[in-house]
Amino acid sequence: MPPGRGRIMTELLEDGPSGIDRAARLLRAGRLVAFGTETVYGLGADATDPRAVASIFAAKGRPSSNPLIAHVADEAAAFAEVEATGLAEILAAAFWPGPLTLVLKRRADGTVCALAAAGLDTLAVRVPDAPSARALLRATGRPVAAPSANPSGRVSPSTAAHVLAGLDGRIDAVLDAGPCRVGLESTILDLSGPVPRLLRPGGITLEALQAVIGPIDAAPIVAATASQALSAPGQLASHYAPALSLRLDAGRVSATEALLAFGPPLDGAGLVWRLSDRGDLGEAASRLFSGLRVLDQDGQRLGLSGIAAMPIPGEGLGAAIRDRLARAAAPRPDSVR
Ligand code: TXA
Ligand code: MG
Repeated sequence: MPPGRGRIMTELLEDGPSGIDRAARLLRAGRLVAFGTETVYGLGADATDPRAVASIFAAKGRPSSNPLIAHVADEAAAFAEVEATGLAEILAAAFWPGPLTLVLKRRADGTVCALAAAGLDTLAVRVPDAPSARALLRATGRPVAAPSANPSGRVSPSTAAHVLAGLDGRIDAVLDAGPCRVGLESTILDLSGPVPRLLRPGGITLEALQAVIGPIDAAPIVAATASQALSAPGQLASHYAPALSLRLDAGRVSATEALLAFGPPLDGAGLVWRLSDRGDLGEAASRLFSGLRVLDQDGQRLGLSGIAAMPIPGEGLGAAIRDRLARAAAPRPDSVR
């Protein structure tokens, strides 16, 4: 909860000129506004205002050692905050606006506050392509720091209702842009070192990035402990945690389990969520977080013992889906939730 503010009324704003105007005014006044992007809903605050940014960490219960992505309206606004490189310019031209986040050296004359970057000398920047998010960023006229709009360690929200389920009463408003088109978070590529490094698979596939810039170091860096995570921010093994345990690559399922189905569902589950009957990875990505929520909630209500996820191929968007499922299935010491 923002320090000293107690429980507050969360306004639900409609996507349209007056909702966007209201959301931009709130952001410029240092308030917290969740907004829909093509990936997931972000919990936005004025990235230039350390007090506003501090209230993001408080509302989410997120450690302030974990840096935030600065969202901007266009490439020029991004390269006003970070040092452009040749590769960054090529990637920006190819994939922005869109679900790609680039980590680059912060510029000395940038406007994003140090707290948003958790004190690092790099900054993650992204230009979202959802029309509502772009209109909001243009109207705000400042970089907007936004993590996913969920309590820390929980499943990311892909609808305004998901945001309210986790943060109602803790944030000032939600701009309802409908369900997110991609449904899982942006791909994060670190361009601040000698070779481009994939920090998080996401809405832009590794294959698509490699087709444009060639080799990328994509070795997974999953830190098992909170202290390791400090040197690789956001790479905690456990994340997206449902309350029910999750079992991966299931070839069969029991009546006491909920099934996350990809392709035709296995027989015999106590509850089923169909990611994509025709085995389409894009459709599956867009239905993943809703499915985890429904199976977790309804599964607990029905007294089921866990969730079984059918195998998902590792190529294309499947890499990001498998990454999120692996994190949801990882053991979770309370200290890193
Ligand atoms: O699709 C998305 O990326 C969504 C929407 C709202 O834009 N945002 C999102 O933010 O997923 P968040 O905070 O949930 O995840 C951002 C990840 C975190 O794991 C964080 O540690 C990492 O990006 N990150 C941010 N800045 C970084 C930096 N300078 N260096 C390395 N990792 C960074
Ligand atoms: Mg997140």
